[in-house]
Amino acid sequence: SVLEMEVEQIKKGNYDHFMQKEIHEQPHSLTTTMRGRLKDGEVLLGGLKEHLKTIRRCRRVVFIGCGTSYNAALAARPFVEELTGIPVTMEVASDLLDRQGPIYREDTAVFVSQSGETADTLLALDYALENGALCVGITNTVGSTLSRKTHCGVHINAGCEIGVASTKAYTSQIVAMAMMALAIGSDQISTHARRNAIISGLTSLPSFVSEVLKLDAEMKELASSLIDSESLLVFGRGYNYATALEGALKVKEVALMHSEGMLAGEMKHGPLALVDENLPIIVIATRDACFSKQQSVIQQLLSRRGRLIVMCSKGDASAVCSNGSCRFIEVPGVADCLQPVINIIPLQLLAYHLTVLRGFDVDQPRNLAKSVTTQ
Ligand code: G6P
Repeated sequence: SVLEMEVEQIKKGNYDHFMQKEIHEQPHSLTTTMRGRLKDGEVLLGGLKEHLKTIRRCRRVVFIGCGTSYNAALAARPFVEELTGIPVTMEVASDLLDRQGPIYREDTAVFVSQSGETADTLLALDYALENGALCVGITNTVGSTLSRKTHCGVHINAGCEIGVASTKAYTSQIVAMAMMALAIGSDQISTHARRNAIISGLTSLPSFVSEVLKLDAEMKELASSLIDSESLLVFGRGYNYATALEGALKVKEVALMHSEGMLAGEMKHGPLALVDENLPIIVIATRDACFSKQQSVIQQLLSRRGRLIVMCSKGDASAVCSNGSCRFIEVPGVADCLQPVINIIPLQLLAYHLTVLRGFDVDQPRNLAKSVTTQ
């Protein structure tokens, strides 16, 4: 009805679509995720406090989720390993169930779900509970089945997310898990300086997110150069392997374009065969311990005349590609383990503009649902 349409428009504010509004809301949603939780170099997570001792003694952390929530957990994996010293394994919820993979009493199973109602994730939760694991929930939905059935957890407080493609929940999930890792690892003296650097990185994150959002017009322009492509590859590694998977997921789910995120270290074991002058390839090469390896990946792709779009740290364009044949997405640099929060944003903008330019439905992509409550 006309009334319903007007209510929709009021909820969207000055934006054309919910996805667009939610992308631009991220400086604010990240602020609310952290509100009251970072004080004087300490992390306070009320929903975990009573269980931190048990988690510190566990044999491994198993991350379980679907879609974007799985990707957020993958982005968290490196810093959880680093700050806690606990081995971390990853499970797509449906695959854990298909295999009936081993889960033990000594495990901490961390379930990540924006809605807290995804059927596969909830079935995996039942399975982990039966096997006696400590079950932790990371969700955006207070009172959801996930938050009720887990032993403890963290609400990400990103605010209601309406667009089917998850954007602000993804970045808030990563930040919530960063705070979780800091809380679990807070008894370790050897990581003290590193922890302080990450905490100050978290505090400044919203302003860096505002800065990277200024790439909007540039991403629209990049999208217009890609509208007729059949496929888009995204190469990442280390902290930004998850960024590659999530960037590609955004492009395929809303822009309805084939896209794959790949581990750059696996490039020479197959994907290199796809490279030619037509296939667009995004390479994530922001500054971190993997930078020189990514520089050599770029060289190998250039020598096969690859059509490259390189995401790099501000001022690094000539260091990553000097022969004038690359396009660049230059982003501000933050603490390396938080860089995925910044790096996904231009890719969210790219997927958004690609969808609008290709004439598809941004907020209700074909065949997809916001919350998949059936198996
Ligand atoms: C669906 C949505 C995705 C989402 C996934 C997991 O497939 O379309 O955007 O990432 O479910 O949802 P959850 O609510 O568990 O995070």
